[in-house]
Amino acid sequence: MDQGTASPAPEPRPPAARSRLTRRKPVELFAADGGRGEGGALRRSLGVWQLTAISIGATLGTGIFVVLGEAVPEAGPAVVLSFALAGVTALFSALSYAELAGTIPVSGSAYSYTYATMGELLGWVIGWCLVLEYGVSVAAVAVGWGEYLNELLDGTVGATLPDALAAPPGEGGLFNLPALLLVLLATAFLLGGVRESATANAVMVVVKIAALLMFCAVAATGVRAGNYTPFMPLGLAGVNAAAATLFFSYIGFDAASTAGEEARNARRDLPRAIILSLAVVTVLYCLVAAVAVGALDWRGFTGSEAALAGILQRVTGQAFWSVLLSLGAVVAIASVVLAVLYGQTRILFAMARDGLIPRVFSRVHPRTGVPRANTLIVAVFCGLLAAVIPLGRLADATSIGTLFAFALVNIAVIVLRRTRPDLPRGFRVPLSPLLPALGLAFCVWTMAGLDAVTWTVFGLWLAAGLGVYLGYGIRHSRLNTLG
Ligand code: ALA
Repeated sequence: MDQGTASPAPEPRPPAARSRLTRRKPVELFAADGGRGEGGALRRSLGVWQLTAISIGATLGTGIFVVLGEAVPEAGPAVVLSFALAGVTALFSALSYAELAGTIPVSGSAYSYTYATMGELLGWVIGWCLVLEYGVSVAAVAVGWGEYLNELLDGTVGATLPDALAAPPGEGGLFNLPALLLVLLATAFLLGGVRESATANAVMVVVKIAALLMFCAVAATGVRAGNYTPFMPLGLAGVNAAAATLFFSYIGFDAASTAGEEARNARRDLPRAIILSLAVVTVLYCLVAAVAVGALDWRGFTGSEAALAGILQRVTGQAFWSVLLSLGAVVAIASVVLAVLYGQTRILFAMARDGLIPRVFSRVHPRTGVPRANTLIVAVFCGLLAAVIPLGRLADATSIGTLFAFALVNIAVIVLRRTRPDLPRGFRVPLSPLLPALGLAFCVWTMAGLDAVTWTVFGLWLAAGLGVYLGYGIRHSRLNTLG
């Protein structure tokens, strides 16, 4: 019966907590957001070469120049196989990244893919894990940089930095000053604009590839066949253990996927950049490793810092080549910091735009098109971590967070094929769901090989992330207002 009075429109009721955790951000909404932040937009200026350089820039660094020295004693000359094995683990996930980056070409990388396919809570968890992959790895890499800087200073001016200023507490120092300075230098580039940063990165990528090729050419003159036997002195277990250690050296190939909103033709170029960069680094790694263990008996790697520079010194008997290599390494590792720092800022940008972290992270400077406050906050966080925490701990935390993100990216490919078969895809993983399932299995296998301390740190990190999400993200999510 008509009461004759207009009842007020009912207040929209907030969705029940459970449905909030599983709500998905529609792919179309990601597309509509394209580049827009608070107060301005990101600039679409990157082509396929710059995107490939971002991924190579983020990948090729401490792993080959420093961590190789730790992996050889684990596997012997068969470290070449370890590199190949870690490369295959990365490859399956890279194919999945390529498909998703070509389907949802936005800035948030795995965070956005998970949000679109498995809901807000898991999306948040992955965003939180990516802070381990990006933010914490910047710190790890900056620490490795200090070792080559010292090598370079030693070879050129005959002096090294005092331990108090070049190592974190717990490793005989007070403060890792070079690591902090490197983060600040990269920040200065990033504040200049994405185009400028991409150009600087591309130059550094050329320098580091040239340095590694130079290493191969010079060290090859010292290769002795006897060094390759026995090839697998510590058996398959050794090869596996070294592969887990070396996984770190492949982290970063996905960095191009954080540039989705600054790419000129993201759907086409992102998949190409991801796969091309992985191919380039895998070939280089296997080549460098094969020459390194041929030129120096594998037992000689134990306890060596700056292993590759040491090999050149021995082979040629002259400081010139090792100084040149150290210079290449200093540039190489600096570019990792630049590219990874860039990736971290863009992931946080995407999360802030979705309301899951404070909006200040999505504020774009109108003149440079750079998320400035975001970049500065990330720099302070990474700089402090780099200054006071030892490399090994940081590298393991990075690996576990990355593997978890990779695992979910593989699942996301399978889910999205079922839920949204209609979406245009710039690239399709062949033999899906077999290859994504293999990618997932490799990630779980490698994670299982990490030690209990790393798992505990990871558990605490996730618990903290959950606290932040329940305390902030769930209440400020932009999907609350979209119903
Ligand atoms: N893959 C990067 C490096 O090896 C993290 O430096």
